[in-house]
Amino acid sequence: MNFPLIVGIESSCDETGVGVVSGSKLLANVVSSSIAQHVPFGGVVPEIAARAHVEAFVPTLQKALEVAGITLEQVDAFAVTTGPGLASALVVGVSAAKALSVATGKPLYAVNHLVAHVAAGFLDDLPVPFPTAALLVSGGHTEILRVDNIADDVQLLGATLDDAAGEAYDKVARLLGLDYPGGAVLDDLAKVGDPKAIVFPRGLTSQKDLVKNRYNFSFSGLKTSVARWVEQKQLRGEDFVVADVAASFQEAVADVLTKKTILACKEQGLQHLLLGGGVAANSRLRDLLQQRATQAGIVLRVPKVSLCTDNGAMVAALGAQLFMQGCSFSGLGFSPDSGMSVSEVYLPAGLV
Ligand code: KG4
Ligand code: ZN
Repeated sequence: MNFPLIVGIESSCDETGVGVVSGSKLLANVVSSSIAQHVPFGGVVPEIAARAHVEAFVPTLQKALEVAGITLEQVDAFAVTTGPGLASALVVGVSAAKALSVATGKPLYAVNHLVAHVAAGFLDDLPVPFPTAALLVSGGHTEILRVDNIADDVQLLGATLDDAAGEAYDKVARLLGLDYPGGAVLDDLAKVGDPKAIVFPRGLTSQKDLVKNRYNFSFSGLKTSVARWVEQKQLRGEDFVVADVAASFQEAVADVLTKKTILACKEQGLQHLLLGGGVAANSRLRDLLQQRATQAGIVLRVPKVSLCTDNGAMVAALGAQLFMQGCSFSGLGFSPDSGMSVSEVYLPAGLV
C-alpha cells in the first residue's frame, strides 16, 4: 500500500504547529509557540495567540515542508484542528488550511484536537490494535476513552467534573509563585522533592464516590488543599520545601489518573492503552502508568514528549488514519467548533 502524505495544522491554543506524516511515519513536526507572550498574564490571551498564529503560520509551514523534504504538490490531503479550542485561534489554522486546499486542489479533513492527541500514539512502528483505552490529559480536558476505531468510534468513559489535570498543574504552579504554564516547571521541581512529604487528597476515590463517579475525576479539591496547606505554613511563618509540595501534589495527580484508568481498562476488558495530551509529558505519570499497566497485563503506548504537547504531527496522524480508512473529506463549508466533543472525530462534508 502507498502511504498517504498528510500535512497537519494545529492552532487551537498557543502553539502554531505544522506536521507531515506518511501513513504512521513521522516526517516533520515543527512548532512555534507564543507562550512567552502570555507568561505576564498568567494564562493564554486569545487575541495575542490568534495574532501570533497569523505571523507564525507561513514560516512554520515552510520549515515543516523543508524538514520533510516535500513540496505541496506531493501532499495527498491536509488535516486541520477545527475544535475544541480558542475560537479566534482556531479560525487562523482553519482559514490557512482552507486556503491551502483551494490553492493546491488537495482535500481537507477538519479534525478534533482531542482525538488528534490520542492519534499521536499511532506515529509508531507498531500498529495500534482496537479496541484500546486512552487516557487524555491536557490543559482543558481529562478523559478516559474507549476507542473502537479512531476514525469513527470514540466513546467517553469518564471525565473531570471540574479542573483538568493540566489546569490543576497551572493553578498550583501559580500559587507557588512559578511561571505559567506550570506543568513542566512543577515536574522538574518534583524530581528533587519528597512525594511522601504531604498526603494530599485523591479526589473521587472513596467507596461512595466510586459508585457514582467510577471513572470521573475531580482536581479542584486537590488544588484547594495545596492552597490551604501553603497558606497555613505562611500564616504560621513556617518554612517549607517547595519541591516537596510539588512532588506530593504530582503524586496525588498521577496516583488518581493511573488508578482510575487501569480500573477502567480492567472492567471494560481493554488490554491496550494510549496516553495523550500535554500532561502526558509528565515524567511521574509516564512511569507510574507504565508500572501499573505492566502489573495489570495492559500494553501501554506513550508518545515521545514532543508529540504530547500541542503539535501539527498529531493532527496529520489523525488525518492519515481517516485517509487510510477511506473516510469522506470535510470540504470547505465547515466552521471551527470551540466546544467540539471528543466523540466527534472529524467533520465529514454534508454534516456541517
Ligand atoms: O495538550 P496541551 O499542550 O494543550 C491543551 O490542549 O490544553 O496541554 C497543555 C497542558 C498545560 O496545562 C501544561 O501545564 C501541561 O499540559 N503540561 C504538563 C507537562 N508539560 C505540559 N503537565 C505536567 N507535567 C508536564 N511535564
Ligand atoms: Zn492539546
